[in-house]
Amino acid sequence: MKSKFLLMLTGLAATLIVTAQTNIIHSDNDGKSWNIMTRSAVYHLNITSQGDVKMVYFGNKSQMEKFENGLGDEIPVRGGYVSAIPMIEVVFPDGVRDIELEYKSSEITSIDGYPALKIVQRDKHYPLEISSFIRALPEYDMIEKWVEVVNTGKKGSIKIENLLSGSVFLPKDVYELTHYSGVWGHEFTPHTTKLTQGTKTIQVKDFKSHGSSSFMVRPEGENDPYAGKVWFGSLKYSGNWRIDFEKFFNGNIQIVGGMNFWDQEVNLKPQQTLTTPRMLFGYTEFGAEGVTMSLASYIREKLLPATHRDRLRPVLYNSWYATTFSVNEEHQLALAKAAKEIGVEMFVIDDGWFKGRVNDNAGLGDWTVDKNKFPNGLKPMIDKINEMGLDFGIWIEPEMVNPNSDLYRAHPDWVFHFPNRRRHEGRNQLILNLAREDVYQYLYRCFHDLLKENNIRFIKWDMNKVMTDPGFMSAPADEQRAVRIQYVENLYRLIETLRKEFPEVWFENCSSGGGRIDLAMMSRFDFNWVSDNTDPVERIFIQDSYLTLFPANTMISWVTQEDWHRQNPSLEYKFDVCMAGVLGVGYDITKWDDGQKKIASEKIAQYKKIREIVQKGDVYRIVSPYEENRSVLQYVDKNKRNAVVFTYNMAEYPANQIRETQQTPLMKLRGLLPDVRYRIEGMNENYSGRYLMDVGIAIPLRGAYKSNIFVIHTD
Ligand code: GLA
Repeated sequence: MKSKFLLMLTGLAATLIVTAQTNIIHSDNDGKSWNIMTRSAVYHLNITSQGDVKMVYFGNKSQMEKFENGLGDEIPVRGGYVSAIPMIEVVFPDGVRDIELEYKSSEITSIDGYPALKIVQRDKHYPLEISSFIRALPEYDMIEKWVEVVNTGKKGSIKIENLLSGSVFLPKDVYELTHYSGVWGHEFTPHTTKLTQGTKTIQVKDFKSHGSSSFMVRPEGENDPYAGKVWFGSLKYSGNWRIDFEKFFNGNIQIVGGMNFWDQEVNLKPQQTLTTPRMLFGYTEFGAEGVTMSLASYIREKLLPATHRDRLRPVLYNSWYATTFSVNEEHQLALAKAAKEIGVEMFVIDDGWFKGRVNDNAGLGDWTVDKNKFPNGLKPMIDKINEMGLDFGIWIEPEMVNPNSDLYRAHPDWVFHFPNRRRHEGRNQLILNLAREDVYQYLYRCFHDLLKENNIRFIKWDMNKVMTDPGFMSAPADEQRAVRIQYVENLYRLIETLRKEFPEVWFENCSSGGGRIDLAMMSRFDFNWVSDNTDPVERIFIQDSYLTLFPANTMISWVTQEDWHRQNPSLEYKFDVCMAGVLGVGYDITKWDDGQKKIASEKIAQYKKIREIVQKGDVYRIVSPYEENRSVLQYVDKNKRNAVVFTYNMAEYPANQIRETQQTPLMKLRGLLPDVRYRIEGMNENYSGRYLMDVGIAIPLRGAYKSNIFVIHTD
């Protein structure tokens, strides 16, 4: 099992550089207590006289002295009085299942440029050592937690039945949790619920979520969007995950999360290490807006792949809604020509281009071009598209196979399966066992060759089936239930290897729409296909939630013919909705008349003018569609001198008829410089930033399904 967990190991070892950063992390009391500072908070922990490492406090610096006694163990274990949810549950070779930890050592170090505290604890009797890491991201009001477990023995495996990334306790109060769940077509639906005695769990057990592990916890009733304390977090992991919110009888809360060990175990052999994914915990006093600023800025500035992080995203065309599987060279070229005419920069062919792919019943796994559809191969078509002045991109779904494919006929054992059990298909496909090295090597070769042989500048990486039948019976018995961990490791390895070899290529993350959007994917992909639901009104809701958690330059939106509510929204309205992120077009634009082409050209030109602010600015959600019958989003650039405001009406009601949906007459902007004067394009007067923020302005937008974009500059 040499290769298992290797990536996690090497990744960490390479980044450990020891430099003390005492201003952010410092220890007192002869090295027996530590403070980790962020902009708004302090995380305090100490070692008791019994040698236990306790988490004392996480919150506002000025209130820390009230909490001298630890709220709970830094690493709650299974063993002794099990009051908290354990982060680690093991079985030692002799059958003992309880853990007793003692403090061993600690160091203040630096990991990837940020200070981190490493505390090592070990079992008092058995060869188990557990290092917990807390890395400070002070300017983002966040800390990052993870653990590393080593079997320091010479013989016998330690069975790990559960190993979570991090735990935090909050003091007695009445709290509300906001989290985001979803299903295909309805990604990131927010839910707020009171945390009562017992455990509330949010989790994924089949590799798909359409929601997020990101969450916010606030004292009950505090719902000012711009102020008030919020604890928040998110897990950097793309496999199964779980976050528990436990309210104890004494009123304290524990938030603990990590990989979901449901139907999973790891047998840690002597000298082996298992490192968990990292979990972010944050504390802000600026309400939900503070959470958005922390998470989105962190992703945009630090997490996204460095090669493309600061580049402006191109305007896209994607053929899926125009053609579904019926792709051929002639029509693709016609689409590309029309796309170029309206100002598109990247032309992406979606599903349907590879061998046997006439519908979703066949072809996945056979990653060579379909000669019936492209008799000359892809190259001549790509050349012509490049000659038009467009870059070319392509859709792939590496992790899947159709039983009706050459790959499956040759290797029916390459999919996850159990003998004597049905292989559960979804969309007529099965999931390849990417934990297998031969599967990894096959996929690597396919996509390496595809990228090497063709001038491809964009990959849309899809994943359309949930994880079922996770059998890997040919693996050693004691490794079979770690298969999901190895799958995710190899998935990351495949993406990272291809990115390294083809550094110019943009990568889009897709999973039946937004089924696998998380911070681990964010660190490997440039953007996400957020939802297959491209109806503009539906999209306004999905985008509002998405932009609460993630930056706008990761949100691809296409203008399509979809109209789920039969409201016949205008093309302008659709463009305005999609311009709030990375703009794309998905219509069969060869059928557009001159009027439609003119609207599209003008809108794309307008987008190019504002996209720097949209893609790199901070997003303020001024009016939420969940609260009113309209949505207002404001984007402000870093120097606060340029802003864009998107206003979308949905239904419009007669004033004062329905109080809850009545339009607020004035819209108060955010994030401007109070003493600077601003001009709103299309309006005559200019205003001080203070006026726009404190008094607000009436936005002249009336009527259902009407939208407008206001561009604001300093005068
Ligand atoms: C998934 C994606 C779509 C499209 C199709 C192609 O459903 O979410 O955007 O790529 O697959 O089959």
